[in-house]
Formats: sequence, C-alpha cells, structure tokens
Amino acid sequence: MSVERTFSIIKPDAVAAGKSGAILAKLEGAGFRIVALRKILLSQAQAEGFYAVHRERPFYGSLVKFMTEGPVIVIALEREDAVKKLREVMGATNPANAAEGTIRKCFAESIERNCIHGSDAPETAAVELAYFFCTLDLGL
Ligand code: CMP
Repeated sequence: MSVERTFSIIKPDAVAAGKSGAILAKLEGAGFRIVALRKILLSQAQAEGFYAVHRERPFYGSLVKFMTEGPVIVIALEREDAVKKLREVMGATNPANAAEGTIRKCFAESIERNCIHGSDAPETAAVELAYFFCTLDLGL
C-alpha cells in the first residue's frame, strides 16, 4: 500500500471545546503526517458547496448552520492507506456507535456535532483537498 493523502476537518464543536490539540495528537499518534493545516471560518456558501452531496437530506440546513457557527481546522493528511485509516481512527458517524478509543467516541457530542470529518474515498479526498488547499499548500 502506497502513501496516500486524505482530507479532514476538525468541526466547530471540537474547536470551541478546546479539543483540536487532542484530536491532532490522536491523528499524529495514528501515523498521519500533517501536510497542510488552516483554521478558518467557513462561509455559508463554502459549507453548502462542501456538503452539496447531502443537499436533499433533511439535516442539510442544520449541518450547514453548525459548520458555520465557529472556526474549523481544515487539514491535509498523509500516510499509507490514509483514507481508510482516517475513517477507522475517527469511528462511526454517530458517536453512540463509535468504537472505544476512536476520535468520535472520545470527543463527539451527537451524530451531527460529531467533531471531525474525513473523506470517504480517494476520489473524494482529491476533490475535498482541492476545495480548501492550493497546489502550493500541498507541495505539489
Ligand atoms: P461528515 O462525516 O462530515 O459527513 C456528513 C455530515 O452530516 C456528518 O459528518 C454529520 O456531521 C452530519 N450527519 C450525518 N448524518 C446525520 C443525521 N442523521 N443527522 C444529522 N446530521 C447528520
């Protein structure tokens, strides 16, 4: 398995609760290298565009409101099998179903306010990395 990149967001709930350092430590502890990182406040248009795939879902409006309520940390991560490994380390979308020791089990509040996002496939990771980072940020 070759070195791969994936994209993550530490969400407003975790940033506001002062958990971003602990979450970054878990990511580094799991062997991820931080390629690029930025703390930003998402605009409504940015959040709507990022989650456009969910626009027909009943929680879309609430999700966009949540993701714009305070700063997030967007991160480009690298390691072997990064997409799959990040999803393992994050745990299930709903923290109630997340395995012990996973980031969502440790830090998430609810299925919506679930503290971290991670790309679901290598193709999605490429799109999501390009949504927030330029090639110069990514050393490309
Ligand atoms: P994320 O991995 O960022 O992908 C989509 C997000 O939508 C998800 O994390 C949650 O924040 C949110 N989400 C997914 N399912 C639900 C749901 N059933 N109710 C509310 N929010 C949800």
